[in-house]
Amino acid sequence: MIALFLATALYVGNNACARCHADIFKTYRDTPMARSSGIISGGLTPGAFQHAASAVSYRIDRSGSVQITTNRQSAEKKLAYFIGSGSAGQSYLWSRNGFLFQAPVTWYAQQGRWDVSPGYEADRVSRWSRPIAFDCLNCHSSQVRLAAGFSNRYAEPPFAQPGVGCERCHGPGSEHVEGRGKMVNPAKLDATRRDSVCAQCHMSGEARETRARKRFEDYRPGALLTDYAAYFVYDGAPALKATSYVEKLAASRCKIASGARMWCGTCHDPHRVPPPAERVSWYRTACLGCHQTAECKRGNDCVSCHMPKGHVEGGGHGVLTDHSIPRIPSHMAAESRDLWKLRPFSPADAGSRELGLAYAEVAARTGDVRQVQEALRLLPDAGQDAQVELRLADLYQRTGNPQRAAVLYRSVLQKDPGSEAALVNLGNLYAAANDFDNAILLWREAIRREPCQPEAARNLQTAYRARKQDRELTDLLANQADCVIE
Ligand code: HEC
Ligand code: HEC
Ligand code: HEC
Ligand code: HEC
Ligand code: HEC
Ligand code: HEC
Ligand code: HEC
Repeated sequence: MIALFLATALYVGNNACARCHADIFKTYRDTPMARSSGIISGGLTPGAFQHAASAVSYRIDRSGSVQITTNRQSAEKKLAYFIGSGSAGQSYLWSRNGFLFQAPVTWYAQQGRWDVSPGYEADRVSRWSRPIAFDCLNCHSSQVRLAAGFSNRYAEPPFAQPGVGCERCHGPGSEHVEGRGKMVNPAKLDATRRDSVCAQCHMSGEARETRARKRFEDYRPGALLTDYAAYFVYDGAPALKATSYVEKLAASRCKIASGARMWCGTCHDPHRVPPPAERVSWYRTACLGCHQTAECKRGNDCVSCHMPKGHVEGGGHGVLTDHSIPRIPSHMAAESRDLWKLRPFSPADAGSRELGLAYAEVAARTGDVRQVQEALRLLPDAGQDAQVELRLADLYQRTGNPQRAAVLYRSVLQKDPGSEAALVNLGNLYAAANDFDNAILLWREAIRREPCQPEAARNLQTAYRARKQDRELTDLLANQADCVIE
């Protein structure tokens, strides 16, 4: 159907490439990227643990069935999909009629054991309610199938191709497999387009803001990622964080001094991971592509000293390689400064709409008033720009201007009736003005769009109790029992 309307090629999946590129197909199949997500069909390592803070016990079997035992009850959940190849760890998703949520259990491969998921350490209950947003699947799988108007409801399975598909780096292949079109070869692109291919998944920054009238997922290999989104980092040494390879490498002397010549492909073959026995010489060869052995005679394992592994900020139990290639190995360690100022990763984004959005996004996390002020200074009049409207509404709400916030939330909902943030917050504003009928309508809609939406659920509970709406309260509590097990 779609092919009738679009002249462009469509996605065909990895298997379609095997016939003509058998060697690449075979080596690629075993890489962590290719195995970065999938449907669970047995094969998990069984295990059990008790989580101290919540006193909840978990027992996981091979098929992905989880027995949960609390002080008050036992329950069972079924893990449907995995995320992460398991080099360091593996996360799991469960499906509630197509709505996907992260499980509180994670497999930590480096320690060879199950434990609570990163960010769940301090929980007092068993939480099955963390929604899986599009971005998560878009980095770990390919051709994600999100239902329109929802933020975490998907077709089953939620992806057409598990893992990172060939076409994520080479573009859709339907014409090429029929001998009619050429694929994109990243190595033959100009440096910015080439680097965009890896950056679509290996860069996060402190904030990523989509350009006006663009959708991030419309980026295709060969295009410029910066036409779709702008990235912002804190002005100061970047911490070692997950998905920060592009930023870290950009901060290295090697990259600064050699420019476009150096990129991810200088040291990595995306189709193949060097086996352990080749690892030292593989990376040494990459270094010696630019350096002379005479420059440093401290040993052959260059990366053990210059690209040390370290624990990731906020990353649970993971350790990742420092891509800033420091001269003195400990140099990048303990940096704790007052980081609040954002720097655009690409200088063209100084003073932009996107910088304003980025300040508003980080301010929503940190509450830092300096960031709030920068956001208000930079954000243009919203016009018909729903992204800006949503951020401005939040800022007005924070700075004591509920009327202006309400106008903007209503305008967002006209364009995007599924906007959870607008539904919940506008509901809160109605409630603050004692208009509970309208507040309840909006909170109910938020729950319909995202069945575990915590703030809407909490507010509805309070409202139903106060208004003695017992039947609605019972239904709501039954709904919530799937989100949190106490
Ligand atoms: C029918 C055989 C056939 C199939 C199927 C096929 N290819 Fe190719 N591919 C070729 C041939 C022949 C070339 C060399 C000529 C060219 O560049 O088109 C090639 C070249 C390429 C190149 C290099 C392009 C360049 O400019 O350096 C890439 C990348 C590529 N293919 C990726 C894929 C992917 C990904 C798939 C699966 C979606 C795929 N191919 C399926 C035959 C095939
Ligand atoms: C569609 C998203 C996506 C794209 C595009 C992508 N990566 Fe990855 N990459 C990932 C994910 C996700 C992982 C983690 C895999 C895991 O262990 O689950 C990863 C892991 C890796 C790893 C470590 C393990 C391995 O597979 O070797 C390297 C190296 C890597 N990527 C290099 C690259 C390079 C180079 C490019 C660009 C040519 C690139 N990636 C493009 C998502 C992506
Ligand atoms: C911007 C792209 C991106 C997003 C969004 C993202 N990841 Fe990742 N993830 C990666 C990459 C790339 C890696 C490899 C290591 C790294 O870069 O930190 C990775 C590593 C992992 C790992 C460890 C994999 C291994 O083999 O050890 C797990 C587990 C994981 N991610 C789960 C998730 C989950 C769950 C979400 C969403 C809730 C998510 N990630 C969101 C790109 C992403
Ligand atoms: C993570 C990104 C990524 C993925 C996934 C990926 N490739 Fe590639 N591919 C590249 C890059 C980068 C190059 C250029 C390598 C170079 O020359 O330095 C390349 C080159 C190629 C080439 C041409 C050069 C050659 O070595 O023959 C073919 C053919 C190809 N890829 C096929 C595939 C197929 C088939 C798959 C899936 C089974 C695949 N690629 C998956 C990034 C990727
Ligand atoms: C694409 C070329 C290139 C590659 C590949 C490369 N470097 Fe460099 N590196 C450079 C350049 C250029 C400089 C700057 C030299 C100068 O300032 O005189 C540099 C500087 C350095 C420095 C000094 C850093 C400082 O802060 O003074 C170290 C250490 C270093 N490289 C180690 C490595 C290691 C280890 C590898 C392999 C993992 C590597 N480089 C790969 C080009 C490269
Ligand atoms: C100068 C060489 C070099 C360059 C350039 C480079 N890497 Fe790496 N990368 C390494 C080394 C060394 C490791 C550690 C491999 C190991 O421990 O086996 C690594 C590991 C990784 C891993 C696996 C997880 C981890 O942290 O150990 C990912 C993902 C990755 N690199 C992504 C990238 C991306 C994306 C780029 C481009 C922005 C890039 N790398 C550029 C040398 C490099
Ligand atoms: C045992 C740890 C270790 C190993 C292994 C090691 N280096 Fe170094 N390297 C250092 C230290 C420490 C310095 C800083 C020396 C100083 O500032 O006096 C350094 C300095 C450098 C410099 C900067 C030299 C200059 O004069 O500016 C480069 C380039 C470099 N190393 C590259 C490499 C390469 C390439 C390899 C692998 C062939 C390697 N190193 C292996 C520890 C190591």
